[in-house]
Amino acid sequence: MRLRDADWRDLAPMAEIEARSFPADAWPPATFWAEHAARPRRSYVVAIDEHRVVGYAGLDLAGDVADVMTVTVHPDRRGTGLGAHLLEELHTRARAAGAAAVMLEVRADNGPARGLYGSRGYAVVHTRSGYYRSADGGPSVDALIMRKELS
Ligand SMILES: CC(C)(COP(=O)(O)OP(=O)(O)OC[C@H]1O[C@@H](n2cnc3c(N)ncnc32)[C@H](O)[C@@H]1OP(=O)(O)O)[C@@H](O)C(=O)NCCC(=O)NCCS
Repeated sequence: MRLRDADWRDLAPMAEIEARSFPADAWPPATFWAEHAARPRRSYVVAIDEHRVVGYAGLDLAGDVADVMTVTVHPDRRGTGLGAHLLEELHTRARAAGAAAVMLEVRADNGPARGLYGSRGYAVVHTRSGYYRSADGGPSVDALIMRKELS
């Protein structure tokens, strides 16, 4: 397994993993193209195993605080350290771009993602109550804004 910059050929497999990972609110393929077109401010990395994309992560490099846009691992490849590896690569890229901190937003009910971010030094700095509203009238879910200082 290795990490490298995402290129345009990776966008379709990234969108496929996205659709499997976020059944209710996946980014459409066009969003991956828009993110790709927004380089170098946007910076995406893919994890490649046996020539296949098995995960991806992206950053918005906007001055002294970078934003984590996403960290997503193929459902069959979770729980083996890949998400942490991708996140560490984002931290390396953010530091290299001069950022002093990284921030992100996560659904309060996303246990694996909260576990990942919490174990890698992120702390909740704000809660947006009821931010995620379900289309079918179900209960809304809070958004947690998390931040990590880069040292
Ligand atoms: C969140 C996600 C990226 C984690 O990727 P992963 O490769 O499975 O995670 P790792 O194996 O690298 O584990 C890293 C840490 O995450 C946490 N973690 C991973 N899976 C977890 C789970 N099911 N429950 C709680 N914590 C979990 C642990 O703290 C783990 O650290 P440790 O192994 O040192 O204890 C993955 O579950 C995923 O792609 N989810 C769907 C997409 C998503 O929700 N992305 C985040 C959007 S904000």
